[in-house]
Amino acid sequence: MKTVEASASGKIILFGEHAVVYHRPAIAVPVADVRAQASLRPTVEDEFRILAPDLDRDYLFTQAAADDPLASIVRLTLKKLGESNPPAATLMVSSTIPLGRGLGSGAAISAAVVRALADFFGQVLSPADISALVYEVEKIYHGTPSGIDNTVIAYEQPVFFIKGRPIQQMRVSQPFGLVVGDTGVVAPTHRVVGNLRRLWQADRERYEGYFDEIGAIAHQARVAIENDLVDITVIGKLMNQNQELLERIGVSSPALERLIDAARGAGALGAKLSGAGGGGNMIALVPSQPAMAASVTQALMEAGATATILTGVRED
Ligand code: PMV
Repeated sequence: MKTVEASASGKIILFGEHAVVYHRPAIAVPVADVRAQASLRPTVEDEFRILAPDLDRDYLFTQAAADDPLASIVRLTLKKLGESNPPAATLMVSSTIPLGRGLGSGAAISAAVVRALADFFGQVLSPADISALVYEVEKIYHGTPSGIDNTVIAYEQPVFFIKGRPIQQMRVSQPFGLVVGDTGVVAPTHRVVGNLRRLWQADRERYEGYFDEIGAIAHQARVAIENDLVDITVIGKLMNQNQELLERIGVSSPALERLIDAARGAGALGAKLSGAGGGGNMIALVPSQPAMAASVTQALMEAGATATILTGVRED
C-alpha cells in the first residue's frame, strides 16, 4: 500500500441560495484557488487514525463519536467500496478553504476523503457516487441541504442545480472575475436555513413569491453566463437583484451589506452575499481586468473584510 493524496475545490454559489432548498434553481461554480486535501499513509500499527491539525483533532476511527463528520464519511465510503475494515493508515486532512463561510469547506473535506480512500483501495468512484456520499454527511451539518455544495464540488464544474433533478452542467462563454470578501462572522448554515423555514411556515405565500423571483433570476443568469452576446454587466445587475431579495427574506446582515456597498462603490459590476448569509462571505463581480479587482479588494479591506480571495470563472 502506498501513500495517496487527493483534494477537492471550494465552491461559490453565484445565484439562488436558500430558494434552492425550496426547489428553485441555483448556480454554483467551483473555486480551485482554495482546496481541501486528504492523504492516507499506511502505518505498521493496525489502526486507523484521523488527524485534522486545522481543527486540532487527532483520534482513532474506532473511538469517534457516531455523528463525527470525518468518521462518518470514512464509514460511508468504506461501505460503498465494499471494504469491511478501515485500512491500517493515518488519514490527514487539511484545507485552505475558510471554515463555515459558505465556501463549501465541509463538503470539500468530505470529497477529498472519499477520493483518497477510493484511490487507496485502487478503485474509481464517479462524480455522482462522490456527490451522493458527501450529501449524506452534509445532512449531519445542515439538516435539510439542497445538495448543491456536494454536487458542484464532486463534479468540479459550474452547475445549474435543481434539488432532486439530474445535474445540468453549464457552459461559461465569457470569463469573469470574482472578489470574495469575508465578514469574519461565522453564521452556521443550519441556523440561517432554520430561521428562514420558520418565516416561510408563518407566511408561505409571501416567501414562495420571493423564491419564485430568485428562481427567475437564476434562469436569466444562466442565459447571460452561457451566451457571450449578453453584456457582462447584465450578470452584475442580476446579482444586485438577487441580493435585494436575499435582504427581503432576512438572510443578509449589516456586515455583509457594508462590504457589498463598498464593492459596488469601488466599481464592481454587482455584489451579493454568497451561501447561507447571516455573516460569511459576499462576492463582487469584476471583469477580467486586474485593476478593478485590486480596487475592489482594497475597498473591501477598508470596509472591514477579514480576508479576500480573487478567483475567476473561466471559459470552458
Ligand atoms: O453551505 P453554504 O453556507 O454555502 O450555504 C448553502 C446554501 C443554502 O442554499 C443556504 C443551503 C442549501 O442547502 O442549499
